[in-house]
Amino acid sequence: MASYRNPPALVFFLFILFATVSHAQLSPSFYATTCSSAADIVQSAVRSAINRDKGTGARLIRLFFHDCFVVGCDAGVLLDANLPSIDSEKNSISNENSLGGFDLIDKIKTALDKACPGPVVSCSDIIAIAARDSVVELGGTRWEVPLGRRDARTANRNEADNLPSPFSDLQVLIKNFTDKGFTAKEMVVLSGAHSVGVARCSLFRDHLYNGTNVEVTAANERKSKCPSTGGDDNLSNLDHQSPNRFGNNYYQALIKRRGLMHSDQELFNGGSTDDFVKTYSQDSQAFFADFGNAMIKLGNLNTLTGNKGEIRTNCRKIN
Ligand code: HEM
Ligand SMILES: *[C@@H]1O[C@H](CO)[C@@H](O)[C@H](O)[C@H]1NC(C)=O
Ligand SMILES: *[C@@H]1O[C@H](CO)[C@@H](O)[C@H](O)[C@H]1NC(C)=O
Ligand SMILES: *[C@@H]1O[C@H](CO)[C@@H](O)[C@H](O)[C@H]1NC(C)=O
Repeated sequence: MASYRNPPALVFFLFILFATVSHAQLSPSFYATTCSSAADIVQSAVRSAINRDKGTGARLIRLFFHDCFVVGCDAGVLLDANLPSIDSEKNSISNENSLGGFDLIDKIKTALDKACPGPVVSCSDIIAIAARDSVVELGGTRWEVPLGRRDARTANRNEADNLPSPFSDLQVLIKNFTDKGFTAKEMVVLSGAHSVGVARCSLFRDHLYNGTNVEVTAANERKSKCPSTGGDDNLSNLDHQSPNRFGNNYYQALIKRRGLMHSDQELFNGGSTDDFVKTYSQDSQAFFADFGNAMIKLGNLNTLTGNKGEIRTNCRKIN
């Protein structure tokens, strides 16, 4: 073959091949002709839900993480255990009695399928747009969401059981993210999502009472609702001072040793990620820019495109 003796042609051929195969074909304009109102429909639903209950925003952001980190961004997380073949991720250690936003996703899906029958818009894309809109509504940054994901026909409860743990040390957290193709810095920037939302007492109690890197004032306030025994499901804000503002307040709190969970404070505990925390605590623009890029990268994890998967009619069950 001539091209083997012709390096530029070979390189060009490989480039085209690589660009076609690797770039999962997601595109921000995926629904431009098939459902041009999709983004507006999601945005207005997310906005009014957050106006009613600010906690909705945090739930949607976390839903995106838990969808993408388990197998991939394929809405596997939304499947109920309504078939023997579905071991619902909703029942996993990390998600049970914890993950939310499902009703709102259903509501958005119904509205989208009414506006654009088919169905046209996938449940996995709804999660991705809703997470971005939540960040915007809570005062964070905006990024263009690549679209065109399709929905899985399976769930993976085992993998959901292995989502990063709040009891892990820094090295484990870094490994959890590098295993998925993220740098330690991207792990730190994605963790900035903990500037909003809540966690249960049972998940931060040990850090609160036994942690070595814990600021006393914030800890004492938190202890009043999270005693050394009892109140396991009592919630505390991940960010002590501005729990519903998406921003670099998370990093400023870590520097003050006010991280709620062990995994939070590990990011600033004398280890290799301290400098990233310092940078983001001082530079909101750097945080926002890097966060948007990392969310796009998170949204590219193992997506189903082309004729793989399906566009679900009901986000809770396969077609
Ligand atoms: C670095 C590793 C991470 C660990 C160990 C972790 C762990 C946790 C835990 C244990 C909770 C509380 C759950 C409960 O009380 O039931 C939580 C909440 C939350 N997480 Fe993470 N998380 C991590 C990374 C992320 C990432 C990458 C995102 C999104 C980009 C995220 C978004 C959230 C949000 C928004 C909440 C609040 C949810 C709500 O208020 O309902 N987390 N996380
Ligand atoms: C995170 O690391 C722990 C400890 O090695 C492991 O048990 C868990 O499966 C990992 N989770 C992910 C998502 O990589
Ligand atoms: C503190 O650590 C000790 C020893 O590991 C443990 O027995 C105890 O339950 C911990 N206290 C809290 C409140 O978690
Ligand atoms: C849990 O929180 C509720 C509401 O803030 C509070 O009334 C209750 O005393 C708390 N439980 C414990 C054991 O502190």
